[in-house]
Amino acid sequence: MASPRLLVADDQPDVLEAVKMLARANGFDVRTATSPAAVQAICEAEEIDVCLIDLNYARDTTSGNEGMSLLAKLRSVDPTLPVVVMTAWATIEGAVEAMRRGARDYIQKPWDNARLLATLNGQLELRNALRAANRLDAEAARTREELNHEIVANSRAMQQVMSLVDKVAASNASVLITGEHGTGKEVIARALHARSPRANKAFVAVNAGGLAEGVLDSELFGHVKGAFTDARSDRTGCFELADGGTLFLDEIANMPLAHQARLLRVLQTGELTPVGSSRQRKVDVRVLAATNADVARDAAEGKFREDLLYRLNTVEIRLPPLRERREDIPDLAGQFLARSTRRLTPAAMEALLVHRWPGNVRELEHVIERAMLLASGDITPGDLMLRPRGDTAPRLEEMTLEEVERYLIERALAAQGGNVSEAARVLGLSRSALYRRLAALRGTS
Ligand SMILES: Nc1ncnc2c1ncn2[C@@H]1O[C@H](COP(=O)(O)OP(=O)(O)OP(=O)(O)O)[C@@H](O)[C@H]1O
Ligand SMILES: [Mg+2]
Repeated sequence: MASPRLLVADDQPDVLEAVKMLARANGFDVRTATSPAAVQAICEAEEIDVCLIDLNYARDTTSGNEGMSLLAKLRSVDPTLPVVVMTAWATIEGAVEAMRRGARDYIQKPWDNARLLATLNGQLELRNALRAANRLDAEAARTREELNHEIVANSRAMQQVMSLVDKVAASNASVLITGEHGTGKEVIARALHARSPRANKAFVAVNAGGLAEGVLDSELFGHVKGAFTDARSDRTGCFELADGGTLFLDEIANMPLAHQARLLRVLQTGELTPVGSSRQRKVDVRVLAATNADVARDAAEGKFREDLLYRLNTVEIRLPPLRERREDIPDLAGQFLARSTRRLTPAAMEALLVHRWPGNVRELEHVIERAMLLASGDITPGDLMLRPRGDTAPRLEEMTLEEVERYLIERALAAQGGNVSEAARVLGLSRSALYRRLAALRGTS
């Protein structure tokens, strides 16, 4: 291992010389400075492991002001750098003030060699431990990011979503995530957890709308042995599993009303009682919920408890459907293709860009997976097997002119296997006119 670098600063050459000899003999690589400015310059130029600085310099020998302001500067250069102060005028106040300003320790002149070395070595060890811990933290954060496969969010609509995610992730606020099927609600819930201080604790997802009424309570709150016929042993509920972490209540709008009341009580008190138990348990859980339904309307119609909705949607994140963020399609497709050597032909990309994507990102993922199986070389429009919306023709009277145009173009492209020239011919357009329309459609939903 390289020798630790010590920077010692004093305006008295004999002090510098004495410290230098002592430190060198004990394995330090020593730098010296005679003014605060020189100390700062050295610390900015190279990495110093420990600093030993005098509080008083030539211009102002007793106040310690120069040393104090040097401390502040050193902290701003490297907040982890241990600084030990020394002074011949070491009143206890001076030392306390220096420590308050970030010095790690102090030495009184004239010093005791053994104590000085012990102080410097102690600071070095602490510094190395801190650095190792920082490295581990950075590594853990990276792994977390990698596990969470990358969120594609280049479109303006998704940029807004991600900036909201960044704003609320660190808080304990309940977040209601809404959006159509397959828009990435769970992806966002996991991102909120991963970017929160709870990231190292559990993320527990439960399908609150898909469980039979009979089992929902025991799923959420747990049960004790013998609570009901099938309860042969104790069971820990999702709330307790998520203690200290995040509970993700998926499909919340489908939760039966009776359960909504019990859920609300737990959210309000942070206390739950497992089924069949008489003992309350305290939990610390952040709650995220998701739905593709219009819960506000459900609440207005009495199908969803208004007070529960109010509790869940401290912040609401609305995920845009894929057709409102077509700019993300190429990157999403690229991500789903990632582990394949296949590429999309330009015509196939064109077809992806104009499709309406009723199933959103999940549909795109499935289309690409299927195409990777079907394609013999690069992926062609035929391999995508995209169908215009629904298998039956949409009702013309419910469509806007633009939707009709999109429908006809998609149908023609699909029928011609994505061949733009053929599709143009069928539509009675020139190739360039069709390209113009495709470009226009790409810019809108
Ligand atoms: N922005 C994104 N970047 C990359 N992948 C995404 C993104 N959004 C969604 N996905 C992927 O799309 C699929 C669907 O996402 P997710 O399960 O989060 O959707 P959802 O809104 O919860 O759907 P549902 O309403 O059907 O439960 C997942 O495989 C997910 O990894
Ligand atoms: Mg989901």
